[in-house]
Amino acid sequence: MSAKLIDGKKVAELIRSQVRDDVNEWVGSGNRRPFLQVVQIGTDPGSTTYIRAKTRACEDVGINTGTNRLPDTVSAKELKRIIRDYNQNDEMDGILVQLPLPNHLSSHDVIESIDYRKDIDGFHPMNVGRLAVDQPSYRSCTPAGIFELFRHYSIQVKSKHAVVVGASNIVGSPMAIMLSRENSTGKATTTICHKFTRDLTQHTISADILVVAAGQPGLIKGEMVKEGAVVIDVGINRVADETSKKGYKLVGDCEFESVMEKASWITPVPGGVGPMTVAMLMKNTLLAAKKSIYPDG
Ligand code: GUN
Repeated sequence: MSAKLIDGKKVAELIRSQVRDDVNEWVGSGNRRPFLQVVQIGTDPGSTTYIRAKTRACEDVGINTGTNRLPDTVSAKELKRIIRDYNQNDEMDGILVQLPLPNHLSSHDVIESIDYRKDIDGFHPMNVGRLAVDQPSYRSCTPAGIFELFRHYSIQVKSKHAVVVGASNIVGSPMAIMLSRENSTGKATTTICHKFTRDLTQHTISADILVVAAGQPGLIKGEMVKEGAVVIDVGINRVADETSKKGYKLVGDCEFESVMEKASWITPVPGGVGPMTVAMLMKNTLLAAKKSIYPDG
């Protein structure tokens, strides 16, 4: 078998054009234009690239946005004071603090200081907790985007064996919750693997749906994948490449050529999951502006 490609770039553009139409309608009916406040701490080049993609997407769909760039020496107290101001600012619908943070700041404390009603990343324990009990919540953008891909390509999740490799708070964990819950998206039998898993292949080989978010280039090889599996590669790794102008290229967590031979569907890197994450952030920001998840807030 040679896998068919899941075109995240195309599906993300469909979602963005839907959000653009919805924003136009929202503003056309006399409402304030949605606003996303971004906070960058330090000058990590990866974070700068992601923030640029997010703010460009905002401009593209008609969401207003501002980025507050703080030095990597900012104290927890000062950062939380700034976030408190944003929480109380009725003109700001969503607040996004780009991760990772410098070592002296606790991401848990910072995330919890964001008003959960403005947590368009879906990282606040209130949103993660509500997700875990099937209550409306902001959903972490990458897993939510993967479910949009399943929907677009009519990939059935119900009753399948889904294996998630990687248990991060941003992707693996919420992905496993969404796959396993008995709500409209989930109903899969779900296994979570992580760096302490013994014999990873024993698990991956039985996956009908394999979601890999481990941050390790080439971790998953063709021999670890069941014939006909759907493979979602969330990894975005920079590896040295002298033939490229930048000196590096982006690769996923799967050995693309060998996995392609086994899978029925596969997401490429780049152009698979990445664009979906940004599109879902636009969707969440619009939900925040409309107060769709927390109407009384
Ligand atoms: N760092 C890596 N991915 C993300 C994300 O989705 N949101 C934020 N805030 N930081 C990230």
